[in-house]
Amino acid sequence: MSLNTALDERRKAAVSAGASMSFPIYVDRAQNAELWDVEGRRYIDFIGGMGALAVGHSHPEVVAAVQAQLNRFSHTFFGSAPYESYIQLAERLNERCKVGGPAKTLLLTTGAEAVENAVKISRAYTKRRGIIVFGGAFHGRTLLTMAMTGKVNPYKQSFGPFPGSIHRAPYPDLYRGVSVEHCLTALETVFETEIEPSAVAAIVIEPLLGEGGYIPAPVEFMAGIRRLCDRHGIVLVADEVQCGMGRTGRLFAIEHTG
Ligand SMILES: Cc1ncc(COP(=O)(O)O)c(C=O)c1O
Repeated sequence: MSLNTALDERRKAAVSAGASMSFPIYVDRAQNAELWDVEGRRYIDFIGGMGALAVGHSHPEVVAAVQAQLNRFSHTFFGSAPYESYIQLAERLNERCKVGGPAKTLLLTTGAEAVENAVKISRAYTKRRGIIVFGGAFHGRTLLTMAMTGKVNPYKQSFGPFPGSIHRAPYPDLYRGVSVEHCLTALETVFETEIEPSAVAAIVIEPLLGEGGYIPAPVEFMAGIRRLCDRHGIVLVADEVQCGMGRTGRLFAIEHTG
């Protein structure tokens, strides 16, 4: 039995089926954009930690920073024993985040947590319940973010019922004939037929639809929903878990939309 097959047998016996797996190739080591499996085969890594590795595997500056940090301390829980590097990173992100006013940062562990917290903050700030999301969107695998996700198979089937007050509108796709005008009208229809705008806390959008087909939102659409949010006091949330952090050429994808 090969090393990969032996590890796969152990995985099936020991790891929950919930941690799904695409390729029975077990990694031994990785560097930059390449990885080597336990049998010594070399691969170009097109997965990149599912898109998380913006600077590739084991960049020397990242390794040095992690080592230096671990030599000082590993974990304290910032809420009880705070430290400077959290504040320093928040300050750097705030400087780069052009939101038309002073920015603040909350660091979280996963994308789903970030989206959930954006919903909680929007609801607490506006004292409203409604959330508007878009067809084809992916927002995570927790119950709330699954409810917000606009694709049933493979993410949502068998997992309902989901939390309520989530309303869906179409995402523009110029290549397939779904125009900006059609989508802005559809949002007005949601306001007429599903939830009044004064009850909407947030519109949550991926400025570049990821799992839904890598479709950038046209600038006029982003400007249109910005206007709607301003008119009705709705918080505009950009889910950049996939398209942010430099992946579109700017730090934040929303910078492309002015
Ligand atoms: C746009 C978007 N939002 C949210 C998430 C959820 O992130 P996580 O898997 O870190 O919870 C993802 C994950 O791919 C994503 O692409």
